[in-house]
Amino acid sequence: MEHRMIYTMVILIKDLAQHKNETVKIRGWVFNVRSSGKIIFLQVRDGSGFVQAIVEEKSLRSLHGDKAEAIWDSASKITLETSVELIGTVSEHPKKAGEFELHVSEVKVFQYSPEYTIGKKEHGPDFLLDNRHLWIRSERQWAILRIRAGIYGYIEEWLKNNGFTRFDSPILTPSACEGTTTLFGIDYFDLGQAFLSQSGQLYLEAAIGSLGRVYDFGPVFRAEKSKTRRHLTEFWMMDAEAAFVEHEENMQIQEKLVSYVVDKILKEYKFELSLVERDVAPLEKIKSPFYRMTHKEAVKKLQELGSSIEEGSDLGADDETILTNTYDKPIFIEKYPSDVKAFYMKRDPKDPSVVLCNDLLAPEGYGEIFGGSQREDNYDELVKRLKEHNLKTEDFQWYLDTRKFGSVPHSGFGIGLERLVAWICGLKHVRETIPFPRMITRKTP
Ligand code: 4AD
Ligand code: MG
Repeated sequence: MEHRMIYTMVILIKDLAQHKNETVKIRGWVFNVRSSGKIIFLQVRDGSGFVQAIVEEKSLRSLHGDKAEAIWDSASKITLETSVELIGTVSEHPKKAGEFELHVSEVKVFQYSPEYTIGKKEHGPDFLLDNRHLWIRSERQWAILRIRAGIYGYIEEWLKNNGFTRFDSPILTPSACEGTTTLFGIDYFDLGQAFLSQSGQLYLEAAIGSLGRVYDFGPVFRAEKSKTRRHLTEFWMMDAEAAFVEHEENMQIQEKLVSYVVDKILKEYKFELSLVERDVAPLEKIKSPFYRMTHKEAVKKLQELGSSIEEGSDLGADDETILTNTYDKPIFIEKYPSDVKAFYMKRDPKDPSVVLCNDLLAPEGYGEIFGGSQREDNYDELVKRLKEHNLKTEDFQWYLDTRKFGSVPHSGFGIGLERLVAWICGLKHVRETIPFPRMITRKTP
């Protein structure tokens, strides 16, 4: 027995189909146990997939004779989350074509688990979040984490195929990028205060002078006192920035990128989407061209739809919900009033009361997933904007330099990864889209 334990090939559950009628070894965790006296059904996962393993007393006896008792005994004691190594024969499920199961001949237990924290009964979100370190083992969370990783990969793939080079912006920064009200400050040795980055954008603007088209992808922080289903205090942002790209082309880039990512996920993550019970029909419609409207037009439309929004003010979360429940594809909202947007956005030469920006709103009530703009490239204008926003020009001297030495028209945008994942998976709240969520009311585990 020891001999066979050592020499049977270890395979991943996802590859079982390639080993029909062969004897293989798998390693994983048991997430469901059912016993009918002489047969034990184990649901096993190994990170790559899920399989039913069947331990039958009778067949153990015919294989091992006297030694069968000990194997049966260790299998009978298996509890939820017991970690195991199983040897068995792969066979096609008698009723479900294309599905495979393992007829177990040998069992090794790494560790038996005591009664598992997350039992079969319904648990509230707080309990699950307190036990996030275990909750991530569930099938549904596994599927979300897989899709998140897939989305991350496809964003990078598209960017790479379209001439963008990865450039890692710093996380510790000396000043604000997205307004001073949502900054996390920390004591920085003898140098006074530093802040956790809200977005790597300003550094990417410096990077275009070196690499032309760049992106970063990493954690960013917002000390935002918002307790909504769309807000985290730490989330992952992809910022992209491109030299010589103006407002219109900036939106085309965003449209192509989203269409690519959705299309790839629909093709490559069918099983995971089914585990999260995503209705894929709305996602199948995500094709160019997306809807477009100016902020002014959006306000008018919202008023028709019953919102109390006034001209010149920012869209609230409810407005985004109303609007994106009305249209079946993403919506670009362009040209917001300059007062409600960041200092670095370029004014529209045709109407300086608005900026050359866009938010990209996802349908089905999801709202903003991307924010982008053409950047102010004129040195004097930018100094004026900094002052209007009460930002100290001396803090931004390095940034202003980029408008002094060969300044060019350029644009970029930022994706909130968790909001994109929430929409693609059809989740109500962003807290399930990130491994360990940080919100104003939560910093553990
Ligand atoms: O719209 P935002 O604030 O834009 C920027 O930070 C720009 N500097 C990006 C750029 O142009 N390079 O943030 C970008 C995206 C939003 O569209 C949203 O999806 C997400 O980040 N986001 C959040 N996601 C979760 N929790 C929060 N508190 C978020 N704040 C923004
Ligand atoms: Mg925004």
